Amino acid sequence: MLADAVRTITLDPRARVLDVCSGSGAVAITAAARGVREATAVDLHRLSAWTARLNARLNGVRVRALHGDLFEPVAGERFDLITANPPYVPAPPGLEPEKGDRAWNAGSDGRAVIDRLIDELPDHLTADGRVLIVQSSVTGTSETLARLENVGLKPSIVQRRRGPLGPILRGRVDYLISEGLIRGPRLEEELLVIRGQYAGTRASVVRAVRAGEPRGVSLLRSVRDAGGGARAGA
Ligand SMILES: C[S@@+](CC[C@H](N)C(=O)[O-])C[C@H]1O[C@@H](n2cnc3c(N)ncnc32)[C@H](O)[C@@H]1O
Repeated sequence: MLADAVRTITLDPRARVLDVCSGSGAVAITAAARGVREATAVDLHRLSAWTARLNARLNGVRVRALHGDLFEPVAGERFDLITANPPYVPAPPGLEPEKGDRAWNAGSDGRAVIDRLIDELPDHLTADGRVLIVQSSVTGTSETLARLENVGLKPSIVQRRRGPLGPILRGRVDYLISEGLIRGPRLEEELLVIRGQYAGTRASVVRAVRAGEPRGVSLLRSVRDAGGGARAGA
């Protein structure tokens, strides 16, 4: 779903794209295949970075593959498009660690990685930048939409697909019901691709400031662009 969204989103050939939580590198490779200026893949695991590099080579594209925690390997850098398929499966506290489980487990409510990721977006998006995030409805759709708004981004759901719970979630049904994360008897989830983008406000302020306009003029323009009400965080 995320690769499909990257295939169809409007992208300038000068765009810099970052895929965080990149795993195999498939999403960064999809961006690179669109001929963008630079595609970067970041994953916590060194093995994922090697895999992304190898997969990029096999697909005949260039991907800068790095390893580290979220935006740490790209500190100080900004991107026109950030994509993420973070781990989002709620894990009961005290669960025995399992090899590779950081690819899916994300704290007791499934939000341990996605919340940090959203909070750090303003430091890594360009003024016109956009983000595309995949998650399950089990992890809380309205929480993600509200959190994106909280960092000044206008959220919208660009894809949704309803289906039976995946195998890991199915194995945790009792926990999910006890935490109110799903309601029986239909054991279904919705997979979503959520987009966030600045609603004109931030982009126009940054452009005006860069163009040397006095800050008061820029702020007036931002209020006008936002339809009369400037958003917090803009
Ligand atoms: C659901 S998988 C993503 C799969 C990927 N989209 C693909 O096509 O292969 C989540 C990935 O996030 C990585 N991850 C987990 N926590 C992370 C963190 N704090 N920073 C960066 N990557 C992380 C995991 O190693 C795993 O590869």
